[in-house]
Amino acid sequence: GTQPGDVRDLEGRRVLVSTGGTREPLDPVRYLGNRSSGKQGLALAEAAAVRGAQVTLVAANLALPVPEGITVVPVQTALELQAEISGRAGEHDVVVMVAAVADFRPAEYTESKIKKTHDPADPDAAPTIRLVRNPDILAGLVADRGAASAPVIVGFAAETGDATGSVLDLGRAKLARKGCDLLVVNEVGTDKTFGADETSVHVLSRGSDDVVDIGPASKSVVSHGIWDVVVGSALIR
Ligand code: CTP
Ligand code: CA
Repeated sequence: GTQPGDVRDLEGRRVLVSTGGTREPLDPVRYLGNRSSGKQGLALAEAAAVRGAQVTLVAANLALPVPEGITVVPVQTALELQAEISGRAGEHDVVVMVAAVADFRPAEYTESKIKKTHDPADPDAAPTIRLVRNPDILAGLVADRGAASAPVIVGFAAETGDATGSVLDLGRAKLARKGCDLLVVNEVGTDKTFGADETSVHVLSRGSDDVVDIGPASKSVVSHGIWDVVVGSALIR
């Protein structure tokens, strides 16, 4: 595998990465969120920078330090993340969507804190939170690109496999649905014994049956493996 510093094969390339997890506010003090740490997206951004890329990281609620030299754009919600990613995609050679984007957001935002007793007529009642769909940012990038070959668009998917199919079956179906160039499928729940910083992924390519398996390894080593696939695929013009 590639060791950090060995190759500068992304020299002069502009790379846009989203990471972290979006938070969808309910009121000034509460949100719907997810457990994504943002480590994998940060590792991917760092690996790209080491290989010479000019990197912008759109970071949704990232609580980790980002090395100097990487431009950070902090965001909270899926709609903010979409605005920052779609507004910048055209200026980049590669866009990688690692962020865990909330599929839904509360239909209403309450300007003042929701009180425990929200209905005086029924003091013990609990409110019902109605949700609406967030846009699919990745699919939107593919639609916006149209027939153009740039930017290269890479998606991520964490899958466990279920009654409808194996991890790879689900990954293939997701790749077809999204229409991105590469889909990095992270098999969740199999590497627990290796610890939180070890991971393994399968990289699927649109229009090919080949699968590249990477790991179990550190998120840094896995990230370099993913960039090896992107560079080796000749997708970057
Ligand atoms: N994604 C996105 N916009 C969304 C949801 C997801 O851009 N509203 C991106 C993620 O950043 C990731 C990829 O799509 O790169 C796959 O996310 P995932 O949640 O696995 O896909 P979904 O289509 O939301 O499917 P699922 O029902 O499995 O959640
Ligand atoms: Ca989802």
